[in-house]
Parts: sequence; structure tokens; C-alpha cells
Amino acid sequence: MTGTDFIYLNNAATSWPKPPEVLAAIQQSLLSPFTGGGRSATRDSKDYIWSARSAIADLLSVRDNERVIFSHNATDALNTLIQGFCSAHKGKIHVITSALEHNSVLRPLSELQQAGRIHLTILPLDGSDIDSDAIEESITPETRLAVLTHGSNVLGSVQKINDIGRHLHEHGIFLITDGSQTAGHIPISVNDMHTDAYVFTGHKALFGIPGTGGFVIKNPEEINPVRFGGTGSYSSVLTHPRGMPERFEAGTHNFPGLAALEAGVGFIQSIGLSAIEEKGIRQTRMMIQRLKGAPNIIIQNEFPDLPIISLNIDGLDNDDLGFILTRKYQIITRSGLHCAPLVHKEMDGGTGSVRLSLSWFTTDAECLQAAEAILEVARCADNQVSQA
Ligand SMILES: Cc1ncc(COP(=O)(O)O)c(C=O)c1O
Repeated sequence: MTGTDFIYLNNAATSWPKPPEVLAAIQQSLLSPFTGGGRSATRDSKDYIWSARSAIADLLSVRDNERVIFSHNATDALNTLIQGFCSAHKGKIHVITSALEHNSVLRPLSELQQAGRIHLTILPLDGSDIDSDAIEESITPETRLAVLTHGSNVLGSVQKINDIGRHLHEHGIFLITDGSQTAGHIPISVNDMHTDAYVFTGHKALFGIPGTGGFVIKNPEEINPVRFGGTGSYSSVLTHPRGMPERFEAGTHNFPGLAALEAGVGFIQSIGLSAIEEKGIRQTRMMIQRLKGAPNIIIQNEFPDLPIISLNIDGLDNDDLGFILTRKYQIITRSGLHCAPLVHKEMDGGTGSVRLSLSWFTTDAECLQAAEAILEVARCADNQVSQA
């Protein structure tokens, strides 16, 4: 399908290839001078920023386009939301997060904890999911914020964020949902979701390019802006505008990136999210079924909701497995901790895994070829163990 001599199974890090429409949109956006965002415009040229806003609002079922905010990536969006929420609250607050999180959640929160700004509770896991009993036990009268992942980038599990959010809201707790691994993989309706903010990234399943992402925010007043600068509006005023979307967007937008994002969303909608979801899960199950045949392959997530498989081969270092797959079989995976160290602490004692992650462009033949390669490496590793 991709017409290359390698198999790319690292789509949870960043998706590849990008649809031709995405590449064309980037080029098109650079053929005429930059317009949009209140800055100078040329006649007949497109406002890439508002077009992308409208595309994301449509994909994620957001009622008001102005509630879609663009950032450099999901990490940037999470920092804006976490720091902005804490800045809007006086004194030390209690925050809940989970062991399933990416460092883009754990690190901003740990920095605030170190600075004495928050008390932090990290919820343990129950298998591939956040332990739901622990959520109830962790809530205190001082709990103001929860930051939780929707889809795990290691285990491919999708959390029942709606149920969790409903419960948190009963206690008046603000919920930031990290949707980096769900936007573009499964249908999302932020309007109907019990979350206050939903974070997305552009360069993974939305088929955009690195340097794009953002968040949807229901009540912007709950978050103080933490970055200030030019907006192309109210330029005579020396303080930053508080209206939306300027409240959270300062400086020149990555308009070629936003053109790509809009095209990526258009590509997804031309296929349909249900078809994307169904194909990813079918192929993932097919690979797991094949790999389960080897006694020394440990599948860390036998029933993922997303097209992500985390595995180890008994007696073989993860980095060695990743290296062999790349060098001998031209299969690109990812080995290590996947920026989610606490998942591994619970799952594999902190050693990490080799992760295979699929996209719409991954073919059945590529899945089977990759499974055969891993089975062959596992057989070799097994022979070496038996001979030792
Ligand atoms: C669950 C999760 N959250 C956040 C991020 C960070 O995304 P970005 O690269 O857009 O900052 C990732 C990326 O790996 C992720 O998997």
C-alpha cells in the first residue's frame, strides 16, 4: 500500500505515511501569502486557521468553533491547561492523575508538585485500565482537578471517560482528558462527553504533521492564559485579549500545519471513523492471534481497544528486538518506555516493551509479515536460551 521497502508500525508516535491530500494542502497553503487570524489578508485566499477550527469542531462534535484552540502539540496543550487551571486557583489544590499517563501529563504535574503548588495523587491500574475504585478513594474536599488519558499509548485501552467524568463532576472536579491517542481512531463527541477539556494532537491519527495539536475547552474562564503576545486583534491594548480563541493563542499560527490538519480530518471523514476503527481492531486482533502462538512472546495487552500491541520476547532486550526488526526485517516499531514510565512500572517492572502501532495505511500483508518476523526472532531467542 505504501510502496516502500519498509513496514512502518510506529503510528502511535507519529503517523506515516500522510495522505496525498495532506501533502497537497501544505503545498497549497504556501503558494499564497499567509492570511487569517486577524492578520493582513489577500483577496481570494483561504483562512486556514478558521477552516481547520471548523474541521476539528465537526470531527469532535464541538458546538462552538471558538472553543477549539490550536497549540504546538498535545504536550503544549496539556501544559497550557494544567498550568492555566492551577494559576486560576489560589493556594495548594489536590490533583488526581493516573499511572496510565504519558509524561506530557506526569511531568507538568510533577513540576507543580515539586514547586509546592499541588498535592498529587496518581491512581493505580487495574489491568489495562485506571482502577475505578481508587478514583472514589482519592477524592478529597480539596480535589479540584483530574488529568486523565482517554486512550493509553502503551496498552491501547480506552478509558470509560464519560463515566469517570460524570462522577468527578458530581464532586465539582474539573476534568482534562488527554485524547492524543483517541482523536482520529474512534468517534468522539466532546459536547456529550463529561469532560471540561479534551486535548488532541495533529500528527498521529489525525494525519496532520508535527507542530500541530490543541484542545477543546467548554468554559474558558476556568483556565488563566499563561502565554501572551500578538493576536492580530486589539493591538493598541498592552494586555492580552481574553476573548476566544485569542485567550489561548498568541503569535503566528502554524498555518501550513493547520492546512494539513484540515486535510487530514477531511481524509478521515471521507473514509468514516467506524471503518477506520473496525479495520484497526481487526488487524490488531489478527496479529495478536498469530503472535500468541509462541511460548516466549509476552503480549502485554491481549485485548486493546486501539491498534496498539505492546510485547516482549522472554530473554531478549526490548531495544535489541527493536534493532533486529529494523535492521534485519525493515520493520519500524518503537522500543522502550514510550514516555509512560508508570505503566511499565505496573506492567513489566519498568523495563518497557516493543510497541507495534497501526494506521489506516497498514495492510493485512504487512501485519502478517511483521508477525512472522517477530515469531522468527522469538524462535531464535528460544533456541539460544535452550542451548545456554
Ligand atoms: C497519550 C499521549 N499523550 C500525549 C502525547 C504527546 O503528544 P505530542 O507529541 O503531540 O505532544 C502522546 C504522544 O506520544 C501520547 O501518546
